[in-house]
Amino acid sequence: MSGPFNAESLQEAALVERVEVHQELGSTSDRAKELGCEEAFAPTLVVTDRQTAGRGRGANRWHAGEGALTFSLLIRPADLGLVTEQQGLISIATAVALIDAARAAHGLDGRFKWPNDVWLNGKKLAGILLEAPRPGSLVIGVGVNANNRFDAAPVEIQAKAISLSEAASAEIDRQSLLLAFLAALNRRLGQLASNDLSPLDAARAACLLADKRVTLLVGERATTGLCRGLAGDGALLIESVNAVVPHYAGSIIEIGD
Ligand code: BTN
Repeated sequence: MSGPFNAESLQEAALVERVEVHQELGSTSDRAKELGCEEAFAPTLVVTDRQTAGRGRGANRWHAGEGALTFSLLIRPADLGLVTEQQGLISIATAVALIDAARAAHGLDGRFKWPNDVWLNGKKLAGILLEAPRPGSLVIGVGVNANNRFDAAPVEIQAKAISLSEAASAEIDRQSLLLAFLAALNRRLGQLASNDLSPLDAARAACLLADKRVTLLVGERATTGLCRGLAGDGALLIESVNAVVPHYAGSIIEIGD
């Protein structure tokens, strides 16, 4: 194996039929979206050793220093017994699968920060970006701070991010972590497909925001209130002015006590 990833053994993983391993790529999600627009469809994993132009949610960039785990998975939810309307739950299942993998591989307890982040020790460990290249298909882009350091990252990221290697005090084998994640995601999506809401229960148990005062920003509009956890469809429940309202989009910009 020349780089950190072995295409043959990734090819054996659940959910994957085609694998692309790159040494360097602008964005794994851009590449997976290209593949998703091709006429012939195959569930595909795109992974790169170094990602140079990663995208985050909205207009955000995703900074991935050397040693980060960055990959995207192209799937067709219907082939897995899921429907497009379950995107919120698919996003939650992805975060929960990352939490499962970090626990299984390193004994670390990640937390779920709605809508699609995984946090550890009060800092961001991983981000997830779901995009649809065409109706019926979905690209799940995942960036995990695995072995990367933040010295060269923008200052605002340095204060808010943590890597798995820092938390585990060990070098992370990115291939093993990726395999553990794919196995966990296969299990979690299988549960959703059979109407087993265990992924939601796991997200509720790991919910970073529950019972905290939070401020949610949707466009220009900020809503502050007490977080009442997650609704059955994955929405974030915020209580303000005596009403509990489900929220489906936006970013949490403040977490209080
Ligand atoms: C976020 O937290 O805003 C989501 C970040 C998602 C980053 C990943 S890294 C792999 C994939 N390729 C991209 O360009 N973005 C996603």
